[in-house]
Amino acid sequence: MITNIGTILHEKLDGKDIALRGWVHRHRVSGNMVFAVMRDPTGVMQITIKKDKVGEKDWKDANNAYVESSFTVTGRVKKDDRAPGGYEIEATGFTLISQGEPFPIAKDLSDEYLLDVRHLWLRSQKMNNIMKARHHIVNYLREFFEVEGFYEIAPPIITKSGCEGGSTLFEMNYFGEKAYLTQSSQMYAEVFVFSLGKVYVLAPSFRAEKSRTIRHLAEYWHLEPEMAFYDQKMNMDLQESMVKYAVGKMVSNHSELLKACGREPEDLRATIEKPFEKMDYAAAVEEVNELGGKMEFGQDFGADEEALLTKGAPAPMFVTKFPKEIKAFYMKEDPNDPEFVLNNDLLAPAGHGEIIGGSERIWHYDELVARMKEQNLKIEDYQWYVDLRRFGSVPHSGFGLGIERFVKWTLNLDHIRDAIPFPRTINRCYP
Ligand code: 4AD
Ligand code: MG
Repeated sequence: MITNIGTILHEKLDGKDIALRGWVHRHRVSGNMVFAVMRDPTGVMQITIKKDKVGEKDWKDANNAYVESSFTVTGRVKKDDRAPGGYEIEATGFTLISQGEPFPIAKDLSDEYLLDVRHLWLRSQKMNNIMKARHHIVNYLREFFEVEGFYEIAPPIITKSGCEGGSTLFEMNYFGEKAYLTQSSQMYAEVFVFSLGKVYVLAPSFRAEKSRTIRHLAEYWHLEPEMAFYDQKMNMDLQESMVKYAVGKMVSNHSELLKACGREPEDLRATIEKPFEKMDYAAAVEEVNELGGKMEFGQDFGADEEALLTKGAPAPMFVTKFPKEIKAFYMKEDPNDPEFVLNNDLLAPAGHGEIIGGSERIWHYDELVARMKEQNLKIEDYQWYVDLRRFGSVPHSGFGLGIERFVKWTLNLDHIRDAIPFPRTINRCYP
């Protein structure tokens, strides 16, 4: 019976004769024995190949295997408390599918080298676990929006105008015309609140970030919901429910995987037990300065400031009501405090910092045009977006969650690059 490692472990197939297909994870020859640890997509398993238990060709194959050679093994499952997972396979047959060449990744290689061979390093247990966890996290996020009655929409990636300021736009040549890789699908999501009501986009966004940090990518996956008739309070409630839903599902259904990623599930669970704290921008600036930072009113929070704010935080926290001048043109002014906008960032604890940016949108034509003029934006570049306010406009809000930022926090990764298979940064777009 061809099975897989996960099934053997899960169904405790002690004493059963099985066949497995997989790859050599570790390999050691000792006299008349070959000890190997094999891996397949479902786990790792120890196998022993004894010279007198397999045919001559199989014995040769077992000896000639390299790390990452692919093979088929047949044998009997045996309980062995010393083996990882508690079982091992005593081989009765071992056939190389592809011996390949000696694998270029061994121990103690530099981060840069591992990024050079990313296409191979993605086979490591570390990256396997993270990629599985990412898959589940994204699925739970989608599931949340499905349950909440949202439609997923498909925005363009090539656009004519920026959404988040000119400095991080990637320019491209579009048949002789200037165009850009999208920074955010928000404006296109807004189109659909007037027809489908509650929508979301899950697509790449691009930012020509010119600095090297542990939380910036030039290409990242962006989850952007947009909701008709939502004010900023409803917007924040939705963000909180979404984060709690996805994190809660991870903790309930994937605690072993979280542990394998180095994340203690109970620590993660503790972050979603209480309502998320809310602090307005002005109070947050004061707090940063009290904690030893140096920030002036009107500055935006950088990584250092967010780290100070969230280091001791037990859970994600909202920072609300930023000064108008440092925020994007589409954010609605606070009617009670017109120097500020109805917006929020959501900062993840333990120094991870911003994972979400959101706001109520300006939905009146004149107000939007006036703000755009204040910010020296050319209305013609955004005519279609402004037009949305001319025909049956309604109040609406939305937000953007950086998937890799969210994964980085959920799994407590040191660096955002491990939250995505092929990280694009200022000095790398290979492999
Ligand atoms: O705060 P940002 O720039 O907001 C927007 O783009 C809005 N248009 C979103 C919206 O309201 N629909 O980006 C939103 C989120 C950030 O909170 C962060 O999680 C992520 O996108 N993000 C990045 N992630 C990785 N690398 C980068 N360079 C990122 N820039 C933003
Ligand atoms: Mg932001």
